Amino acid sequence: MSRRIIRGRMLSFEAIPQAPDDAAAYWYEADGGLLVEDGKIARRGSFAEVSAAAGEGVPVDDHRPHLILPGFIDAHAHYPQMQVIASFGAELLEWLNKYTFPEETKFSDPAHGERIAKAFLDEMVRNGTTTSAVYCTMRRESAEAFFAEAERRNMAMIAGKVMMDRNAPDALTDTPQSSYDDSKALIGRWHGRGRLSYAITPRFAITSTPEQLEMAQALVAEHPDCYMQTHLSENHAEIALANALFPKAGDYTGVYERYGLLGPKSLFGHCIHLSEREADVLSETGSVAVFCPTSNLFLGSGLFDWQRYRNRAKPLRTAMATDVGGGTNYSMLRTMDEGYKVIALNGEKINPLASFWQVTRGNAEALSLTDGIGTLDEGSDADLVVLDANATPAMRLRMETVGTLAEELFLLQTLGDDRAVAETYVAGQKAKAGLAG
Ligand code: GUN
Ligand code: ZN
Repeated sequence: MSRRIIRGRMLSFEAIPQAPDDAAAYWYEADGGLLVEDGKIARRGSFAEVSAAAGEGVPVDDHRPHLILPGFIDAHAHYPQMQVIASFGAELLEWLNKYTFPEETKFSDPAHGERIAKAFLDEMVRNGTTTSAVYCTMRRESAEAFFAEAERRNMAMIAGKVMMDRNAPDALTDTPQSSYDDSKALIGRWHGRGRLSYAITPRFAITSTPEQLEMAQALVAEHPDCYMQTHLSENHAEIALANALFPKAGDYTGVYERYGLLGPKSLFGHCIHLSEREADVLSETGSVAVFCPTSNLFLGSGLFDWQRYRNRAKPLRTAMATDVGGGTNYSMLRTMDEGYKVIALNGEKINPLASFWQVTRGNAEALSLTDGIGTLDEGSDADLVVLDANATPAMRLRMETVGTLAEELFLLQTLGDDRAVAETYVAGQKAKAGLAG
């Protein structure tokens, strides 16, 4: 059995913090210890307690004075879009046609998929993200490449082959039957293997025929333990086109509702312009609305109203995500920063403890994964991020005036990026050392 103790300042959430001083919502230990056995947190507490309980001779990774949290979770990203980031000057539909679809055709070459999957997971580790819900491309090989690389690294990843059979280049369209067959084969091969999970992934209503959405419906019914991920209500032109393609659905959410795609394992990227009816039905079905702030700002899509969704009579389950490559950064610190600004433009503020809750335990709740990840609870997988709030000269200078944990977190999310990630642990193993420069 492998055993080690990880030492540092520890922070893990029990519930969403209601205010910066809501200490009941989290566990914080100024000199904390985690005893990690075979990749899992066997014991947590003060370093003194944990090291006494562990006995003699257990190696210690001492990260003091850094802050240790559960690894970040990114609830929506497109690994094939690493070379799409920073494509200039378009809103969603033009951006898809001009940049994204041509880029995704490159993944018919398995070697390209392997190269980009490696680069993407390197970037996750560099940024302290230990779980992501990932879109591959229409090509089955792109999902094979991603799962194989995630398995090699023992990372808890969720991914799926994109189903799309219209309104895209020929090289990027499948058929209802082939999308069913390929998804089914991938589920059989990868879902539940090691730390991997499958997400049934119809790209969005615009690129699927009714026949393909029926196939997605069949897959969801046959595999209720898989995720379902898609896009919803991101951009006004997209909404108008979805409504025109499915005139009987009533509204955009109604399309997915008709095909049985709503539910507690369903992740809907964006959800910016929902009507009250749409928000109600997402709430009633336990569906998750995924907030992608850097993407929504970059593509000019709109402002996700996080506070309204969480506080309405029928609250929405929410998650936060990068949406790389509509999103402009791999870092969940950068994502929280932009999320704060979007929420500010809605006339509200999100306290930094709630932001860090959202990208750790909150996203784990949205993915129904709190048994394994998202906290430092005993029994959880030791997926961790070690954060250094003094990582840059500007951060060090600002830290001189920081007095509370909430202020330190706010500094990390406002000025921090991959330079503030001192280490990332994947199932108890240090993961940053092996990264390509
Ligand atoms: N809607 C359908 N596909 C995509 C995508 O790749 N990125 C974003 N942001 N929205 C989408
Ligand atoms: Zn997306």
